[in-house]
Amino acid sequence: MSLVYRRAQADDLAATDALVVSSINDLTIRHGFGPMATASPPSFQLFCLKDDPDGLWVAEEGGGIVGSAWSWTCGDLWFLAQLFVDPAQQGRGIGNALLERTLEHARKSGAVHKALITFTFNRASQGLYMRHGFFPRTPIYFFDASREAMRMSPQVVLRAVPIDADAATMETLAAIDRCAIGVSREKHHRYLLGDPATRGFLFYAGSDAVGYGYIGSSGHIGPLAVMRPDHVQAAFAAALRLAAAGTSEKISAFLPGTCDGALSLAVDQGMRITFPMLLMASPGYGDWPCYLPRNPGFM
Ligand SMILES: CC(C)(COP(=O)(O)OP(=O)(O)OC[C@H]1O[C@@H](n2cnc3c(N)ncnc32)[C@H](O)[C@@H]1OP(=O)(O)O)[C@@H](O)C(=O)NCCC(=O)NCCS
Repeated sequence: MSLVYRRAQADDLAATDALVVSSINDLTIRHGFGPMATASPPSFQLFCLKDDPDGLWVAEEGGGIVGSAWSWTCGDLWFLAQLFVDPAQQGRGIGNALLERTLEHARKSGAVHKALITFTFNRASQGLYMRHGFFPRTPIYFFDASREAMRMSPQVVLRAVPIDADAATMETLAAIDRCAIGVSREKHHRYLLGDPATRGFLFYAGSDAVGYGYIGSSGHIGPLAVMRPDHVQAAFAAALRLAAAGTSEKISAFLPGTCDGALSLAVDQGMRITFPMLLMASPGYGDWPCYLPRNPGFM
C-alpha cells in the first residue's frame, strides 16, 4: 500500500481527532499517567483550516489516516498545534515527513518564531523536534483540582469585566498579547468569543487593563495573559475565583515554569500536577512569564 501525504480536508477532521486521542492515550498509558485525551468536536481545527489550509496535513495508507499534522500562524509566529502518528506506525519516518510539510507552511508564512508544546516524557517527539531546530524552553504543568477541594482563599485585587468584541477591546487584547507572546492573536480572540462554552474577561488594576483570561464551562482557565510578570499571580487569582463560582466539577490550567506567582498560587490553593508538558521553540522565543496557554493546540 502506498503512503500518501496530502493536505487535510474538513471531512478528515473527525478521523484525525480519533487518531490523536488514541495516540495520546497510548503514550500517556505507556508512561503510567493513564488516559489523558477524550474525543472532542474539531472546532478549532476547522477554524484554522478555513483560515489557512496550508497548515493541516494527513498521511494516508490503505484508505486510512495514519498520521496528521496541524500548524497555525499569527503575525511572525508559527505554532505546531499537533503532530501525531498511529501508534502501530511510529518509527517509520511518517512524523518526520509530516513535520517537514508543516515547516514548509512556516517558511511560506515568513515566520520568525516557531514553537510547540509536547509531552515532557516523550523522548521521540523531543529528539525529532531538536533535529528541526526546536529546543526545550520551559516546562508547562497541567494542574487540576476538584472544585470542592480548592481552598479558594486567594485575595482578588483585579477587577474582571466580561470581554465584548468592540474595536477598542480588540486593540487592548492585541496590546496585551504583544507584551505576553510577541504577536497579536485577534483572529483567535474572535474564535474564543464565539464559543458559547467559554467566557472571556479583561482584568483591570484601577482603570488600566493589565490582562485577560478565558474560563471554560469545564472549569478550565486559559489562555490568560498579562502585560507584566508581576500581574500574573493576581490575574490567575481572579480567574480562579471566576472558575470557582461556576458549576464545573474540576478547575484546571496549564502553568509555565516561568510563571512563579501562578505556580505558587496553584499549589497553595490545593491544585495538583497532573501532566508535565514542555514548551519547545526556535532560538530567541519562548520565555513566557506573562502567559498561560489554553492547551497544547490552541497555545
Ligand atoms: C512524535 C511522533 C509524532 C513521531 O512520529 P514517528 O513517525 O514515530 O517519527 P519518525 O519515525 O518520523 O522519527 C522518529 C525520530 O524521533 C527521534 N527519536 C526517537 N527516539 C528518540 C530518542 N530516544 N532520543 C532522541 N530522539 C529520538 C529521532 O529523531 C527519530 O528519527 P530517526 O529514527 O530517523 O533517528 C510519534 O511518535 C507520536 O505520534 N507520538 C505520540 C504523540 C506525540 O507525542 N506527539 C507529539 C505531540 S506535540
